[in-house]
Amino acid sequence: MILSIESSCDDSSIAITKIDSKKLIFHKKISQELEHNIYGGVVPELASRLHLEALPLILKQCEEYFPYLKAIAVTNEPGLNVTLMEGVMMAKALSITLNIPLIAINHLKGHIYSLFIEKESKFPQSILLISGGHTMILEALSYDEIKLIASTSDDSFGESFDKVSKMLGLGYPGGPIIEEYAKNGDEMSYTLPIPLSKSPKLEFSYSGLKNAVRLAILDSDISDTKTKQNIAASFQRAATLHIIQKLKKYFKATKVTQLAIVGGASANIYLRQKVQTLCNEFDIELSLVSLEFTSDNAAMIGRAGVDRYLKGIFISLKDLKSASRVSF
Ligand code: KG4
Ligand code: ZN
Repeated sequence: MILSIESSCDDSSIAITKIDSKKLIFHKKISQELEHNIYGGVVPELASRLHLEALPLILKQCEEYFPYLKAIAVTNEPGLNVTLMEGVMMAKALSITLNIPLIAINHLKGHIYSLFIEKESKFPQSILLISGGHTMILEALSYDEIKLIASTSDDSFGESFDKVSKMLGLGYPGGPIIEEYAKNGDEMSYTLPIPLSKSPKLEFSYSGLKNAVRLAILDSDISDTKTKQNIAASFQRAATLHIIQKLKKYFKATKVTQLAIVGGASANIYLRQKVQTLCNEFDIELSLVSLEFTSDNAAMIGRAGVDRYLKGIFISLKDLKSASRVSF
């Protein structure tokens, strides 16, 4: 079995995955959403302190598996340095105590492996990765061969939901809150710009849309619930249409037969439905992750860890470091 640890942002999570069957046999996550809510976003120092409390509590619950462990997999990049360090330190301590090797997992690749927690692994994959930190189109041939096709020049899809929620005084994380408000709003009530709709570039941007929402809020009475619902719906439409327009450009330029959506923001049902309609138009098979595994979790890190273990790819105590930068 492999024990995996995830602490790249505001979720403390540990999982145990069987190596031969690749089955998940233990998975626990403690989220810090309530603690960060009042700040309207994640406060790194606070997140780090909360991981220090939560990770040992979860670890205690899976002690019975310790005699069967063959390796420790841990997210070491990208993410918040001060929170990644908590997981990395725990992994190192376990590796020394249990005398088993370490496996370093890239968080973004972990999200790709969330596709394989409940289903057979399948490569190559075209992937739309949308989370709090990233908005990307990727082409993955394997764990080690990942090509970046498009990314954002400023904010990410998930982050823009968080910011709009904060501007409306609705709390953190904004994604599920805005999606819920949008359900009862009129998405045509505010005319917001679809980012880069005239640009031929395969690139994302959310800062302009965010600013347009800010100006719309200045012009509105947001003490009224209906107004908040209308702004949420109009924003969600523009944010999603931006993704759809760029995916369409990608599908026109490249022969794509299947697409997967991963990352915390892939929980958005409105987006899932729009992407499904587009995929039908292009005869593309769409793969989705169960809602249980879209946001950050150690199960996806464990599943990626099993692949690394089977390939014999480990990392030494000295070389295992946390890093905030994005690399593939
Ligand atoms: O992957 P994740 O858990 O953490 C990062 O790696 O960033 O993604 C969290 C992000 C947050 O920005 C959150 O607001 C967003 O995903 N999110 C959503 C939804 N659920 C979570 N965004 C839009 N719609 C949702 N339903
Ligand atoms: Zn993530």
